[in-house]
Amino acid sequence: MYILLLKALLLVLASVFSGFLCCYDPDLFPGVNRSANKKPNFIIILADDLGWGDLGANWNLRNDTPSLDKMATEGMRFVDFHSAASTCSPSRASLLTGRLGLRNGVTHNFAVTSVGGLPLNETTLAEVIKEAGYLTAMIGKWHLGHKGRYHPNFRGFDYYFGIPYSHDMGCTDTPGYNLPPCPACPWNSTTGRNHQKGCYPEIAVPLFENHAIIQQPVDLTSLTAKYTEKAIKFIDYASQNNQPFFLYLALSHMHVPLVSPKLPRQDIYGANLKEMDALVGHIKNKIDNMKEDTLLWFTGDNGPWSEKCQYAGSVGPYTGMWQRKRGGSSAKQTTWEGGHRVPTLAYWAGKIPGNETSPALLSILDIFPTLVTLANASWPPNRRFDGMDVSEILFGQSNQGHKTLFHPNSGAAGKYGEIQALRLDHYKAFYLTGGAKACDGRSGKEQHHQPPLVFNLKDDIQEQQPLDTHSAEYNAVLPAVSKALADLFQDIATDNVSVADYSHDPAAMPCCNPHHVVCRC
Ligand SMILES: *[C@@H]1O[C@H](CO)[C@@H](O)[C@H](O)[C@H]1NC(C)=O
Ligand SMILES: *[C@@H]1O[C@H](CO)[C@@H](O)[C@H](O)[C@H]1NC(C)=O
Ligand SMILES: *[C@@H]1O[C@H](CO)[C@@H](O)[C@H](O)[C@H]1NC(C)=O
Ligand SMILES: *[C@@H]1O[C@H](CO)[C@@H](O)[C@H](O)[C@H]1NC(C)=O
Ligand SMILES: *[C@@H]1O[C@H](CO)[C@@H](O)[C@H](O)[C@H]1NC(C)=O
Ligand SMILES: *[C@@H]1O[C@H](CO)[C@@H](O)[C@H](O)[C@H]1NC(C)=O
Repeated sequence: MYILLLKALLLVLASVFSGFLCCYDPDLFPGVNRSANKKPNFIIILADDLGWGDLGANWNLRNDTPSLDKMATEGMRFVDFHSAASTCSPSRASLLTGRLGLRNGVTHNFAVTSVGGLPLNETTLAEVIKEAGYLTAMIGKWHLGHKGRYHPNFRGFDYYFGIPYSHDMGCTDTPGYNLPPCPACPWNSTTGRNHQKGCYPEIAVPLFENHAIIQQPVDLTSLTAKYTEKAIKFIDYASQNNQPFFLYLALSHMHVPLVSPKLPRQDIYGANLKEMDALVGHIKNKIDNMKEDTLLWFTGDNGPWSEKCQYAGSVGPYTGMWQRKRGGSSAKQTTWEGGHRVPTLAYWAGKIPGNETSPALLSILDIFPTLVTLANASWPPNRRFDGMDVSEILFGQSNQGHKTLFHPNSGAAGKYGEIQALRLDHYKAFYLTGGAKACDGRSGKEQHHQPPLVFNLKDDIQEQQPLDTHSAEYNAVLPAVSKALADLFQDIATDNVSVADYSHDPAAMPCCNPHHVVCRC
């Protein structure tokens, strides 16, 4: 109290003596404008199953993302940015650890009945950032284990609001649009028996606030509004408490089921895309009005889920034609570009140059090292990271991204997590190919390639025609490709102790009222 009074008195005196009664000068009164000394805030918005071609700024197919397009004009757009896997859980595990699934143990999705989650050996970005003085929140889809110690509140997040996994992993009262369509949650055990593949009549999707289930089944039609409200509240809370914050906002958009459009006869995918865009717009307006140092980073977990047909997004030009000609999808779950090249924007008023397009080869793996650097946080010991600090790229001082980037199997072929393909500069080599289930119901069969298929993405973004194995170009690049892969394997072999528990137990299902059919509350 006295100290505050003294400070105030000193301030008044200082301003009187320096003759700056009217104006504020941060250099004159260091420590007064505390926001100027504060560490930067971070907001990571992760979209789900969003296509590279869904973003207006990327591909002129749709006109449903005005806020994101504006963010692209005011910030930096990345056109060669990749998720670390082509499916939900491994992609999210890599975001929060900066490490590939072969190291952090998360190589495929967790289920409703999963006992485990992101191995407790792994240190999350939230834990590291929290250590550095940040207030941390996770809003949205977690999907890294929901039972016991795997819950987000135990993984570095001060606050959690959201659903524990995808919103198609359980029923709701308003099922929305999916293919095949799922019925609404049953109300009694008679109706509970009409089991349909891919649908969950036995469990309703829960909505959590911290450890409590506050709604089950979740009301999907009001979820976006709730996420926005909670995000704004958290930002306000941190700001009022003068604490830097880290908000990880993992949206349900554009994963199926899609919600019903507000206007009748509206294009369903487009309406959901617009809803997501408006949410991002709200968050951006909020930070613009706050005038605190805030980095807003928007990206996606993997490409569109093609087997959902009209309810899936667009891969834009990344059509993976080699695979498509042989059957199956070349999007989500695959290592074709459509599976992991994700729309990505970074915005930070006054720090990140506006209206810039960066061609640097980057990854979701880079978020961890970059935020740790910007927060001046301490690195967790005894492990190596697959991502790099890209702050210089964000600030427009460099264009040097990764030289190599590795793409693990996410379900299309081979063992989960196994490296199928890799980038070396603008070359992409495949040792293993496979197509996910496409809209026509077909999958592409698993094929091993030794020597690997190599595409030159500079000339062939559609991955249509691999280089002739007898060509000088192929033989010039092959040794470097083989060496990169061998080096990675050698490195991973010494840093792969985390093993995720993928075992099941029906008792692991989050249920607010276990005596009731489908758990309602
Ligand atoms: C504090 O400093 C920041 C950055 O220098 C500036 O944008 C902001 O307007 C200042 N706030 C106040 C209350 O003067
Ligand atoms: C179960 O629900 C169905 C549909 O709502 C209803 O027709 C049926 O009578 C109910 N059965 C019992 C045992 O309550
Ligand atoms: C952004 O850059 C493009 C080309 O680089 C230019 O045509 C456009 O006018 C710029 N937009 C704004 C808002 O500065
Ligand atoms: C970063 O942290 C180190 C050690 O905790 C400290 O000495 C240094 O002053 C910090 N740097 C900044 C820019 O905050
Ligand atoms: C780690 O790598 C070694 C060497 O490749 C392998 O034998 C071992 O099975 C790996 N451990 C895990 C948990 O994957
Ligand atoms: C955690 O790491 C230790 C070695 O550091 C290893 O022995 C143990 O199996 C790991 N546990 C899990 C659950 O990954």
